[in-house]
Amino acid sequence: MNVLILGSGGREHALALAIAKSPLLDRLFVAPGNPGCEAVASLLDVSIVDSRAVLEACRAHRIDFVIVGPEAPLVAGVVDDLAAAGVPAFGPSRAAARLEGSKGFTKDFCREFAIPTAPYGRFRDRASALEYVALQGAPIVVKADGLAAGKGVVVAATLGEAQAAIEALYESDALAECVVEAHLQGEEVSFFALCDGERAIPFGDAQDHKRAGDGDTGPNTGGMGAYSPSPLVTPQLSQVIMRDIIIPTVEGMRKRGTPFRGVLFAGLMMTDVGPQLLEYNVRFGDPEAEVVIPRFRGDLLAWLWAATEGALPAEAPPFSQDAALAVVIAAKGYPGAPVRGDAIGGLERAEALEDVEVFHAGTRRQGRHIVADGGRVLVMTGVAHDLATARERAYAAVSAVDWSNGFFRKDIGAKALDRRR
Ligand code: AMP
Ligand code: GLY
Repeated sequence: MNVLILGSGGREHALALAIAKSPLLDRLFVAPGNPGCEAVASLLDVSIVDSRAVLEACRAHRIDFVIVGPEAPLVAGVVDDLAAAGVPAFGPSRAAARLEGSKGFTKDFCREFAIPTAPYGRFRDRASALEYVALQGAPIVVKADGLAAGKGVVVAATLGEAQAAIEALYESDALAECVVEAHLQGEEVSFFALCDGERAIPFGDAQDHKRAGDGDTGPNTGGMGAYSPSPLVTPQLSQVIMRDIIIPTVEGMRKRGTPFRGVLFAGLMMTDVGPQLLEYNVRFGDPEAEVVIPRFRGDLLAWLWAATEGALPAEAPPFSQDAALAVVIAAKGYPGAPVRGDAIGGLERAEALEDVEVFHAGTRRQGRHIVADGGRVLVMTGVAHDLATARERAYAAVSAVDWSNGFFRKDIGAKALDRRR
C-alpha cells in the first residue's frame, strides 16, 4: 500500500515510524510532516483541511490509504470527501467527529445514552449562562462549544472567574455557544479505543500533563508530557470504561446512523463514583501517541486498515508491558506566542541514546540546521521495563539537546512514581 499520513506534529512522527515498519507498506508520505518524518517518508506540501488538495495528492502519488492525525481535517469532513472519491481514510466522518467538534453535542449524546459525565447546562446566550452559574455556584467549569486546541475551557474556582469567562466568551463572539458543567475531582486519564463502526477495543491508555509549569501550575497547554500505561487503569477499570463509556458511545453513534470509525480518545476523570467523561477527542492524543505507539507491538497499518474496513480482529491488540514516558520541549512563550527560528543542537546525541525516541513536533529544516518552528517543538520518549527508568531515559535525551530558548517540565511522571513509594 502507498500510505499518506496527514499532520505535522509529534503524533504524526510517531505514526510514521510505526507505519514504516509494516510489511504491507510500499511507499509512505506525510503531509505536511516535519523533518523528523523524512527518515521514513516523503513530505508533501499540502493543506490538509482542503479535501481537494488532499485528493489531488492522493491521485498524484497513487495513495491507497490515508491516515488522519489531527482533528481539524476530521471535523472539516476530509474523510467523507476522500471516501466519496474512492480513497479509504482512517478516522471518523464529519458527523462522527462532532464528538470532538462540539462539546454541547457530546453532552447531549451522553445524556441520551446514559454515559457518565458531569451535570451541565448548554447555552446559546450570555444571560442564561450567567444565570446558570449564579444558581450553581463555584467551582464550576465553562467551555466554549467548538474546537479550541485546549484553550476553550476555564476551570473557575470562584463565581467571579466563571462570570468573567462567560463575559469574555460572548465579548469575542456574540453568537458563541457554551457548556457550563459541574467541577469534577480526581485524576485524569487518556483512554484510547480503536473502533470500526460496530465494535471497539481498548488501544492503550496514558496520563498527560496539561499545565505548562511544574506542579501543575501555569496555563493549560496541549500537553507537556505523558506516560503510558496509566497505573490507574487496572484491567477491571478498563472493562468498566469500555462497558459504561466507550461501548455505549459506539452503539449510540451507530444507532444514530453516524457510525464511529477511528480512534476514540476519552478524556476521563477518575472520581470517587467511577470514571466520568470530561471530553471526547476523535484521534490519537499528542503527546499521548508518543508514549502509546512506541509500546505497540503489532502491525499498526494492518490494525488501522482493519478498523477502517469495519473488520477489527477479535483478539486484544499487542502492547508491551514496558513503560514509556515522554517529555515535551516547548519554545519559550508557549502556549502564547512561541520564540521561533532558533537552531537546535544535540539532536543526534539524543537520538543515539538507547531506548529513546526523539519525535519532532514543531521543527523546520533550514539549510543544515533543524530550527524551532512551533509551540511544542520536540518530544523525548524513554522506554523501559519500569516507569522510573523510562523517565531517566527521557530526561537524559532532554539534557542532550542544546537549545537555550526551550523549556520543559521537570516533573513528568512524578506523581505516579511518588504514589508507588
Ligand atoms: P476538556 O477540553 O473538556 O478536556 O477540558 C480541558 C481540561 O479542563 C481537562 O483536561 C481538565 O483538566 C479540565 N476540566 C474539564 N472539564 C472539567 C470538569 N468538569 N471538572 C474538572 N476539570 C475539568
Ligand atoms: N494531549 C491531549 C490532546 O491531544 O488533546
